[in-house]
Amino acid sequence: MANKYIALNVLDTMDNKIVKSVLNEPFLILCKNFDTEEQKTVQLNELFKKEGFFWRTTDSKWTYYIQEEDIYNFSTGGKNVQVPFSGFTDNYPELVQMSNEKRLEALEESKKKLKQLELKRSKDDIEIGNVVISGTKDSIMLNKVIFDDLMKLTPEKAKEISKSSVAETSEIVKIATNLMTDFTGGFSIFSDIVQKSNGSTINHMIRVFIMSLSFFQYYNKLINSGYAAKLRVQFESKYRDKYEKLLPKANFNIMKLERVFRGGMTSISDLETNAIGVGFLLHDIGKQVDLEYFEGAEGYVKDRIEAHVTNGFNELLKRTVYPPVVSAIAGFHHEYYGHDSGYGPLREFINRKYPDGHTCEYCISYSLHEVYNGEALCFFPAKLLEIVDVYDALTDPGRKYRNPCTPKEAVEFIRDHFLSDEIKVDPILFDMFELYLKDTGEL
Ligand SMILES: [Fe+2]
Ligand SMILES: [Fe+2]
Repeated sequence: MANKYIALNVLDTMDNKIVKSVLNEPFLILCKNFDTEEQKTVQLNELFKKEGFFWRTTDSKWTYYIQEEDIYNFSTGGKNVQVPFSGFTDNYPELVQMSNEKRLEALEESKKKLKQLELKRSKDDIEIGNVVISGTKDSIMLNKVIFDDLMKLTPEKAKEISKSSVAETSEIVKIATNLMTDFTGGFSIFSDIVQKSNGSTINHMIRVFIMSLSFFQYYNKLINSGYAAKLRVQFESKYRDKYEKLLPKANFNIMKLERVFRGGMTSISDLETNAIGVGFLLHDIGKQVDLEYFEGAEGYVKDRIEAHVTNGFNELLKRTVYPPVVSAIAGFHHEYYGHDSGYGPLREFINRKYPDGHTCEYCISYSLHEVYNGEALCFFPAKLLEIVDVYDALTDPGRKYRNPCTPKEAVEFIRDHFLSDEIKVDPILFDMFELYLKDTGEL
């Protein structure tokens, strides 16, 4: 029987001590070249000696897999217990054991705590910060175990069962959004969770939710105070050349702000905010165990990193009653304006819809319908989240493959690698993000 392999970045989800010991072992790992399909086995410790944390080098053509058995045996002393593969380390195993009723009760409990604080009309930023963090964490973890269970059911049954958790989660996000509106403190209030980061998916998701929501509110404020008029004045000198790269076939005479934002740059109503907030909260929910596996050379699944967007997108749409905006945010937040380093189901969808090729007329749309029609390159909330997601990955102190950037370094890095020769994140939204960082004291 073929050996069962697991992506080597499973190490990123494990305890530091175990990782250190694993890296000293002469385990044989499987290396696979994406371009040539070449495969070879190499000793993990040898490769690590040559280049530490080599499996996370982003421009590498290689992906690495370790035998599941090695990891099991090493980290558990041969006992048959599950290794937390997906990075949802924390209390995941405990929640898996819980009945669905108990999980719903726990979600309701989180909601109540947030509600109490809302009714109290607290002006204490630290108190708001702490309650939002713990409520966010509980609802992500509970949604994750519920989501994983829904995958085992037929779409009809799953949708039915998802109704209660969807309703509770939407309520939680609504209250968290209101609390964040009252919140006047800088993002530094959340630095505690940043400091405690172990590079896990859950901590990343908490931070990205809070920061995206807060940046989103800042975006609305800027637009409502006339920021678009300012951009129109600056467009020619500051942005035009960048957007010409993104829409090379557009008529440059009419290359203006209205070509960037379909229908003009606007703020977002409260009504849409809730679904967008839920999308921010669950954006990486598709990161899951099964997709990391492949059996030898056959049954090979492209890459677990890339799979999380398609998985999140498909399953949220097919097996939950979350609005389509939620699945679109989970699906489209790594598209990078169609750049080669980006990935996601949107480009695949558009390619299928227009097999003979297609040119978009606009860069960003606020309407999912227009995105699916191929009118714009991307969906606004996903594009906004994309920036926060990259920023968080760069500043996260828990990533084991490199030292964290300071906010200033992260901004510079994004300007150099995502906004210079090739445009991956949106230039206007990124400038707004930088203003946001400055205004909230991050930068
Ligand atoms: Fe992601
Ligand atoms: Fe993410």
